[in-house]
Amino acid sequence: MDFNEQNLRSALSGKMMGNTLHFFPETESTNTLAFRLADAGAKEGTVVIADSQTQGRGRIKRKWESPPGLNLYTSLILKPDINPARSSPITLTAGVAVAELFSLYCPGKVHLKWPNDVLINGRKVCGILTEIKTEGKKLKFIVLGVGININMKRADFPPPLEEIATSLREETGHTFSRVEVAAGLYEILDKFYNIFLIEGFASIREWWLAYSLMSGKHVEVTCGGEILQGKVTGIDDGGALILQGEDGMSKHVIAGDASLIRV
Ligand code: BTN
Repeated sequence: MDFNEQNLRSALSGKMMGNTLHFFPETESTNTLAFRLADAGAKEGTVVIADSQTQGRGRIKRKWESPPGLNLYTSLILKPDINPARSSPITLTAGVAVAELFSLYCPGKVHLKWPNDVLINGRKVCGILTEIKTEGKKLKFIVLGVGININMKRADFPPPLEEIATSLREETGHTFSRVEVAAGLYEILDKFYNIFLIEGFASIREWWLAYSLMSGKHVEVTCGGEILQGKVTGIDDGGALILQGEDGMSKHVIAGDASLIRV
């Protein structure tokens, strides 16, 4: 099925996520566009999809490789009635949703790496970038950006990434319809978003920990200029990683890059 506006519209028809679709053959960044649309009043469930991005971005101002014809670059607008301080777990909730989707294609091989990476066989296949806007003490909206490497071949990744990134095609040996992956993604995001709204992050956390490679392991987290080490003992209600240091004290780490270490 061709990846075009018409096919996306019919695959998303009647769905909550994707109730309004903005499709672009090329855009700077679907997150930037979705942010502008949300600011101008776009409703919850609006999605932006692009075939390619000229300024696709990841966390910490990293570049997100966004060539045309191969992958999915999408951003969703969410407007939950929650305290902005409770919005971080939305990223983890989306990670669980994506992990559940990929587990249909690669059962037992999917893992989550805090805070927002989805891995298959230890290589990154999807990144999630959440951006929020607040008004006073209220959350105005969340933009949930999801990039999935779908039909890229290993040779398509630039050198530093070819060792650490992968695609659904590389891991399964076949190509995917990007329209079907998009429709499956919105469906499962809707399911987990509703669990989050109704039950809170507490019930999602169990899923997250089950997919995590870090539970009970020693990690190093780089956060700004600081490096923290400790054993991962859980994730708190705000989505922070709980690290137990050598002194037995627990630290809650809100942001950073985590990697496993030997002790
Ligand atoms: C990360 O792993 O650091 C997050 C990567 C997020 C990439 C997606 S692609 C769609 C959306 N638009 C962007 O510019 N970024 C996100």
